[in-house]
Amino acid sequence: MQDTSAQSAAPEPARPLPRKAARLAVNRAALTHKVRYAIRHPDRITPYLRRTARDGWLRLKHRGDHVAYYRAVMAADTERDPRAAVGSRSHDRWLALGQMQFDYLIEHGLRPEHRMLDIGCGNLRAGWRFIEHLEPGHYYGIDISPDILISAKETLTAYGLQGRLPHLTLTGDLKLDFLPAGHFDVVHAHSVFSHSPVEVIDECLANVGRVLAPDGFFDFTFDRTEGREHHVLREDFYYRTETLVTLARGHGLTARFMEDWEKLPHGQSKLRVTRE
Ligand SMILES: C[S@@+](CC[C@H](N)C(=O)[O-])C[C@H]1O[C@@H](n2cnc3c(N)ncnc32)[C@H](O)[C@@H]1O
Repeated sequence: MQDTSAQSAAPEPARPLPRKAARLAVNRAALTHKVRYAIRHPDRITPYLRRTARDGWLRLKHRGDHVAYYRAVMAADTERDPRAAVGSRSHDRWLALGQMQFDYLIEHGLRPEHRMLDIGCGNLRAGWRFIEHLEPGHYYGIDISPDILISAKETLTAYGLQGRLPHLTLTGDLKLDFLPAGHFDVVHAHSVFSHSPVEVIDECLANVGRVLAPDGFFDFTFDRTEGREHHVLREDFYYRTETLVTLARGHGLTARFMEDWEKLPHGQSKLRVTRE
């Protein structure tokens, strides 16, 4: 797929806005941040403590296996509300977040004949739009959570997209070994690496080059920090851009910071990876 963007190769915006700069420096795992946050949002203390207890138990149960742990988190969250499980507080937000992902790739040249791999497709918040746009059989969604994939099938049915024959596959890792080489024009992972420890991202970057078509690209979002890298409850991970760019380079890939994504109302940043 032709990369039609005209982004700079600079890994970071030259001068981020002051408010954003402050947000990018925050360490959400630090006790001082937690105390300050609790004082500002007392109503969020009880839900946070509940989540901490639940996640602590799930981490103990699936010790050392992040995918099994996060699959259990998704099972519990999906049971309560599948839209909230993929990060949208309301149906309107769910629609808007899907539209934003779709519009971005359309602007970057996604055409019906392209083949797309959507890693961590969730319940097709954006996926249903890609499925509608692409030729039948050209959308391939994978996810670690059987619960969210059941919700994905419900989305597919609700939008009457059965005839587009998308592939929806459960996976336990990101080796991508069951997929054909050089096949996908676009590989996409939205709000997936924001929930992934570095070894999961590394596994994906080690293997994604094989499935990319020669002109293909891999877009992924991540929670960016310009301070210390950290995580919250091993649910949300914050990375410096250079860490991910260096990781990609180690697998013969070039990663480019997407400046135009920064203008959109979304808290995460985006990198585009291509084969060198
Ligand atoms: C925040 S949701 C986003 C879903 C979808 N990309 C969207 O934007 O609506 C993150 C999804 O990634 C999935 N996920 C998390 N880690 C994954 C991994 N290592 N491999 C595949 N899917 C993963 C989760 O199960 C969940 O469905």
